Amino acid sequence: MKVKVNQLTATDFISLTDSVGWLPLPEEQVKHALARSVATFAAFDDEDNLMGMARLLGDGAFIFYIEDMIVNPKFQNQHVGTAIIEKSIETVKEMKHPDWFVTLDVMSDPEPETISYYEKFGFKQGANGMMMDIN
Ligand SMILES: CC(C)(COP(=O)(O)OP(=O)(O)OC[C@H]1O[C@@H](n2cnc3c(N)ncnc32)[C@H](O)[C@@H]1OP(=O)(O)O)[C@@H](O)C(=O)NCCC(=O)NCCS
Repeated sequence: MKVKVNQLTATDFISLTDSVGWLPLPEEQVKHALARSVATFAAFDDEDNLMGMARLLGDGAFIFYIEDMIVNPKFQNQHVGTAIIEKSIETVKEMKHPDWFVTLDVMSDPEPETISYYEKFGFKQGANGMMMDIN
């Protein structure tokens, strides 16, 4: 498996939202959103099948958010999500100035299962979701 940075296309994005039954999204709007993301992540298997994705949003200095974290059900529970979160954290560390104290948030649904999934990576619940300080 390989997590590629900034290679996610609108077609790939829409195929992943379809795979988990999220509401259909207009392609033009997806393209606009991808172009304005701080970074995108797309995981592929060795045959180049798209397995999962996430986007990194934010101001590039104080605050980053992980959004649109989806693994195609065909590939769930194979640590694809784990690889994407690890790549997101690594990317934030690369982007930030060494002296900066930044926050990485993840938008979790309110299910205790999903919250515990993100807690495994070090996110803690705050008043508005879950966050992680990166020094
Ligand atoms: C949530 C999601 C991204 C997880 O991706 P994944 O690649 O299947 O997860 P991983 O294989 O990296 O899971 C790592 C560990 O968490 C566990 N886990 C997987 N999905 C979980 C979930 N939804 N809740 C709690 N634990 C979960 C796995 O069993 C695994 O445990 P292990 O380390 O003991 O083996 C994926 O299930 C998904 O895309 N769901 C639909 C969309 C969605 O809900 N997105 C998140 C919106 S907040």
